Amino acid sequence: MLKVVVLASGTGSLTEALIEAAEMGVLKADVVAVGADRPAPVLDIAAAHMLPTFLVRPADYATRGEWDQGLAEAVAAFEPDLVVSAGFMRLLGAPFLECWQRVTINTHPALLPAFPGAHAVRDALAAGASETGCTVHRVTADMDAGPPLAQTPVPVLPDDDESSLHERIKVVERIQLVEVINKIAAGEVVLD
Ligand code: GRF
Repeated sequence: MLKVVVLASGTGSLTEALIEAAEMGVLKADVVAVGADRPAPVLDIAAAHMLPTFLVRPADYATRGEWDQGLAEAVAAFEPDLVVSAGFMRLLGAPFLECWQRVTINTHPALLPAFPGAHAVRDALAAGASETGCTVHRVTADMDAGPPLAQTPVPVLPDDDESSLHERIKVVERIQLVEVINKIAAGEVVLD
């Protein structure tokens, strides 16, 4: 079974959806660990599902490169076939990418290349977009610029604020991410 390590930094609803989908056999992969760059609710969710977690804090490293290396080594301990960034709020730098770029994917709450970066939902609203969406893409050195693997549009409603729109996007993200991982597991999408 495909072994997946998830990297996240926040609430963890996408991570929880992956874990639950794996438990129900809907996800054709095993989530073997969840890692974060800061103490975050996502680690508590993983622990509640009896999964190993790891915390690799930038403050614990002298340089950014050493943090990247530390993260790469923490991931390596679980020997994953796939690394999934699901709301991981730090750029993955060269030392990490040297080890894991080939098998790392990210989910982003916009239809890339539109609205890259950490405020994609807010930016789509500010731009007056009538439609946005979510993208699963390969991770490269350039932020949110890797080859897309899947995209799904999500309508923007007139009374949307950042929170309501982001929650509607996340509903779609949870489904899309499982679909992409299942295609990778089935060899229908080949990463490396
Ligand atoms: C997702 O919308 C993801 O695309 C973005 O951060 C959000 C994470 O949501 N990068 P959650 O923490 O899994 O609820």
